[in-house]
Amino acid sequence: MIAVARETAARLKKIPPYLFADIEARVRAKMAQGVDIIDFGIGDPDLPTPSEIVEEMKKQIKAPGNNQYSTSAGENETRKAVADWYEKRFGVHLDPEKEVVITMGSKEGLVNFCRAFVNRGDKVLVPDPAYPVYAQGGTLLCEGVPVRVPLLPEKSFLMDLTSVPPGSKIAFVNYPNNPTAAVATREYLKELVKWGRTTDTIICYDNAYSEMTFDGYVAPSILEVGRDCIEFGSLSKTFNMTGYRIGYAVGDPDLISGLKKVKSQVDSGVPKFIQKAAVFALGMYRNGKRPPIVEKNVNVYRERRDLVVAGLREIGFKVTPPLGTFYLWFDCDGNSMDFAKKLLDVGVVVTPGVGFGEHGEGFVRMSLTQPAKRIEEALGRIERALKSPA
Ligand SMILES: Cc1ncc(COP(=O)(O)O)c(C=O)c1O
Repeated sequence: MIAVARETAARLKKIPPYLFADIEARVRAKMAQGVDIIDFGIGDPDLPTPSEIVEEMKKQIKAPGNNQYSTSAGENETRKAVADWYEKRFGVHLDPEKEVVITMGSKEGLVNFCRAFVNRGDKVLVPDPAYPVYAQGGTLLCEGVPVRVPLLPEKSFLMDLTSVPPGSKIAFVNYPNNPTAAVATREYLKELVKWGRTTDTIICYDNAYSEMTFDGYVAPSILEVGRDCIEFGSLSKTFNMTGYRIGYAVGDPDLISGLKKVKSQVDSGVPKFIQKAAVFALGMYRNGKRPPIVEKNVNVYRERRDLVVAGLREIGFKVTPPLGTFYLWFDCDGNSMDFAKKLLDVGVVVTPGVGFGEHGEGFVRMSLTQPAKRIEEALGRIERALKSPA
């Protein structure tokens, strides 16, 4: 009897085995042997949160009242700060009451959005390769059915929904994209919104990397071209605040209302002092352009990107410098897991593309989260590893 009670729910069993478990075990073993590991695996900024934001948070943590519950939808002031930021950054006017909700990072928002809208058996379109949360924590844990839509190099990794039959409830779309680093034009977003309307599919746009763009490319918001969608964003990557856990969802009032209703039963809001730090951070955007602290960050990633691209090209890989995200996605000319293991033998960690979906096979993702000196060291090791006989 006890054994039956302790069986996890069927929906949890649908979560596929963790593909990186083997690689992670090998990394731990290497570390235990004292191997110097250079890790390009994790999508977490190595740079610190700007000191101005940390100071604001320190001040706010002491302020009376900030120890108490927030509302699950976020404080009025925070929702207004997000709305003001959308006005400045994208020229999109939002009602902070009806069209904005504060999330505990965008991950929580994406998952709870599925809880609000996915019924058992509903089809949900997810890119392949993709951030795994759309299919797993989102769709599968709501007993929905993920339908994979390939992101192909010959289509610039843009999700081609024109060939997908109607009948899905939601389409998750993410640009600038993790893991392929592809970006989308406003024209593409217009077509996407049109497609969503004709097929009665909710477009759930993940814009977590909207501020991490290079070479003059400015990422649009889907709300610039259609208000009947939901968009998720985050302070995690923009301000190196991954551990703070704060993001937002904006858009269609009915979609926001569904998400708010779930959240009101699940969480009690992001801590108030973190919301205050977020208000301060977003307020640094004066005229819609990235403030100096964000520019400084982005420049660091751009320099690293150029260093890795040049080094990989020298080794013989075809790599295109991406216009967004802090990832490099390149064709590793073979099995991605074997490639990652080979590099691990010399202490360099990269993520095999197959871990993001079957169409990620043959590719590898490198996060640009190591300083220049370590990148140079890693490139030397990669060259040696690939030139040595198997
Ligand atoms: C595409 C994408 N969306 C959402 C997230 C979640 O970010 P957070 O929950 O920190 O806002 C990530 C994190 O890596 C991501 O890559």
